[in-house]
Formats: sequence, C-alpha cells, structure tokens
Amino acid sequence: MIGRAAVSTERLRLEPIGPEHAEELWRATEASLPQLRPWMFWAADADLASTRAFAEGAVEEWDQGLAFHFAIRDHAGVAGALGLEVPVPVRRLGELGYWVASDRAGRGYATEAGAAAVRFGFDAIGLYRLELRAGIDNPASRRVAEKLGFRREGTLRKGCPLPDGAYDGFLYGLLATDHRPG
Ligand SMILES: CC(C)(COP(=O)(O)OP(=O)(O)OC[C@H]1O[C@@H](n2cnc3c(N)ncnc32)[C@H](O)[C@@H]1OP(=O)(O)O)[C@@H](O)C(=O)NCCC(=O)NCCS
Repeated sequence: MIGRAAVSTERLRLEPIGPEHAEELWRATEASLPQLRPWMFWAADADLASTRAFAEGAVEEWDQGLAFHFAIRDHAGVAGALGLEVPVPVRRLGELGYWVASDRAGRGYATEAGAAAVRFGFDAIGLYRLELRAGIDNPASRRVAEKLGFRREGTLRKGCPLPDGAYDGFLYGLLATDHRPG
C-alpha cells in the first residue's frame, strides 16, 4: 500500500484528501462553482455533504490503489485539488485531473501541483502512462497539460461527460519514459 504522505513543492503542499479537508475543500469549491461547472462532472450538484462523502471515500480509494486525491494547499489554505485515478491498478495506467480555486488561478499552481502529481504517479505508484482529458474549449487546461509535457494524442468526441450532456476534448498522454520539462 502507498503511504498517505503529503508532497511539498516550492509554493504548495499536496495533502492526501481525508475527512479533515471537507469543509475547507467545500469553501474553495463553492467560491469557484461558476468556473468549475462547465468542465467538472461532479460540480453540478456539489455541496458540503457531497464534498464530505468524496473526502471520506478518498481514503478508501487511496488504500485500494484506485485513486489518489490531493488537496492543493498554499499559504492561505486549500487552493484546489487534483487526483490520479487508476481504475485497474494492475494495468498501471492513470488519469490526471485538476482544478484550482478561481481566486488563485493564473499563478502556475496547476502546473506546479500537476508536476508533483506526475512524479508521484510514476515514482510512487509505478504507473507507466498517464492520460489527461482537457476540453477543446478549455485553453487553460490544455496549456497546463502541455506545460507538464503531455502530448496531444487525439480528439474525444463528447469524451468529457457532464450530468446534462458532454463536451469534446483532447486526449493527452505522457509515458514514464518521456522527456518532461523541468
Ligand atoms: C484549468 C485550471 C486548472 C488552470 O489552473 P491554473 O493554476 O490557473 O494554471 P497555471 O497557472 O498553471 O497555467 C495556466 C496556463 O493557461 C494559460 N491560460 C489561461 N487562460 C487562458 C486562455 N483563456 N487562453 C489561453 N491560455 C490561457 C495561462 O496563461 C497559463 O499558461 P502560461 O504559463 O503559458 O502563461 C483552472 O483554471 C481551473 O481549475 N479551471 C476550472 C476547472 C478545469 O477546467 N479543470 C481542468 C479540467 S480538465
């Protein structure tokens, strides 16, 4: 089992999400809902109860090796979250997702936290490939993927589901053996 240890970067601390994060995570989510809802499936009906259920479930998912969710913390508190999902652990293929609170966007946080998550995925979990889906119309997310060294590999028609539909996305891939920036 992979230990639930925090990961530090230059400006941020990535903390494995647990019930203790629920309230702060919800406050950051609530303030960012207009920016999250177009892209994140779970944001449509997010509230404190669903955030608490997610944070509690995250501990179990981590222990089963199915998902590794981190709260992104800066000097002022929870600034977003990211997750590595590994639906079939034995296949060693993971998917990275991230969001940053609207009042902290544009500071390089997603890239800084994402780079640490990529290292965690390859070095601690032992994944051989990471995938990432970013909306065709979501330039900030696409840019983060590129800055992390992901390569654009294809177009996913309606490949990014939302509760009331789906949007087109690009599939990005990164191999453990690929060159990475930084
Ligand atoms: C996408 C998101 C995670 C980016 O977080 P962030 O911390 O602002 O990202 P960073 O600062 O590390 O990088 C953002 C990059 O996108 C660029 N960018 C932002 N808005 C842009 C736009 N409208 N057009 C083109 N580029 C844009 C920034 O200039 C920056 O690139 P640069 O460093 O080359 O200048 C954040 O905006 C977010 O949470 N959005 C809502 C949820 C979401 O879309 N999640 C991703 C789902 S796949």
